[in-house]
Amino acid sequence: MADVMMLVPKLIHGGNYIKEGRDSARSTCLIFSPKEEDEVGSLGKYLQLFVKHKVNLLHIESRSSLRQPNGYEFMVDCAPGGNIASVIECLRDQCSYFSIISRNHKDNMDTVPWFPRRIRDLDKFANQILSYGAELDSDHPGFTDPVYRQRRKYFADIAYHYKHGQPIPKVEYTPEEIATWGVVFRNLTKLYPKYACREHNHVFPLLIENCGYREDNIPQLEDISNFLKDCTGFTLRPVAGLLSSRDFLAGLAFRVFHSTQYIRHSSKPLYTPEPDVCHEILGHVPLFADPSFAQFSQVIGLASLGAPDEYIEKLATCFWFTVEYGICRQNGELKAYGAGLLSSFGELEYCLSDKPELRPFDPPKTALQKYPITEYQPVYYVAENFEDAKEKMTKFAQSIPRKFGVRYDAYTQSISIIDSKQQVEALVNNVNQEVQILMDALRKLHH
Ligand SMILES: [Fe+2]
Repeated sequence: MADVMMLVPKLIHGGNYIKEGRDSARSTCLIFSPKEEDEVGSLGKYLQLFVKHKVNLLHIESRSSLRQPNGYEFMVDCAPGGNIASVIECLRDQCSYFSIISRNHKDNMDTVPWFPRRIRDLDKFANQILSYGAELDSDHPGFTDPVYRQRRKYFADIAYHYKHGQPIPKVEYTPEEIATWGVVFRNLTKLYPKYACREHNHVFPLLIENCGYREDNIPQLEDISNFLKDCTGFTLRPVAGLLSSRDFLAGLAFRVFHSTQYIRHSSKPLYTPEPDVCHEILGHVPLFADPSFAQFSQVIGLASLGAPDEYIEKLATCFWFTVEYGICRQNGELKAYGAGLLSSFGELEYCLSDKPELRPFDPPKTALQKYPITEYQPVYYVAENFEDAKEKMTKFAQSIPRKFGVRYDAYTQSISIIDSKQQVEALVNNVNQEVQILMDALRKLHH
């Protein structure tokens, strides 16, 4: 077995893809730099360590080091099994830089919990779902409907086979599905002018115009994703089932939103026990088109990368009370911006009545609030505006114990792990460049 998967890598300058194996979701990732200014070919020497300790490799990559001038950095994905502990011990001794990123972070104090580092790593989530979309609970409205269950499997399969960069397959919805959508659309759009926040009402006409939002048409995720990309760089990805909070939040760091594509059961058009396409595209999508809100969402996502488990739960709770159930203040009035509210005929009116309790959004406190998931919320948190919520969230993120900074590089669509002075200097240079552009624009405004 070891010999089959073991590769002698052929390295191309600048870091490159070699091979991706089947076990990649359970892998342990090691990132290391040789001590002296070794040739890039020195990787071969290190790889012998893996052979010696019977550790199979799934993916090998070399790239230019961001931490040492002229240095190289290697990234190796190890399959489960073999004596990985000995490899780690040797590498730690021999390397000038070493870090471990693994799904099995609980066993090891200095291991960083696994997170995607490139946008295409999100493909690994497809086989990490907690439940497949076709499995329904016995109290689900579609539980005894074989046609509906078949349909759910069809949607789950689309998502399961989806790969980054592909267009999201367009779906021909049945007349029954379109009728269900029609009921939801008609009822909710009546409430939006009064209850939805300004940003939602601002974007909605654009979605009607550009993405086919109509009572008699269920818009296609692909069209919506392209629209969002133009607005804020957000894109949609179909999802086959329930993702863990860690994986779901990680998507936001890349401005990727995992979206369902199926619709609720036709027997109860104004009720769904789980997110469906109505919830995603009527509730979430309009807000992701707003630059401040998009940034706010990404702040939560970036904070989650490599964070300890208890903080993932806190971040997921903050997500719940903002992106899902948030209320904000606009011109002295309370308005809904959470997708769970904007996609629920009953709760949208309820949340702005005098029945629920309202508290100011304050991440350290909000993060600890327990909440029901199948009934109306007894407590809502009110944000002053998205900018303010973002600042508070950013502050909270800084309180999360993590040994490095993270930054999303939109050019390479990847996460930079920032843990060296060189990297900070390079970033300061970038900021300086941006300031030059602003100064130039400012000068021109004065003339
Ligand atoms: Fe949602």
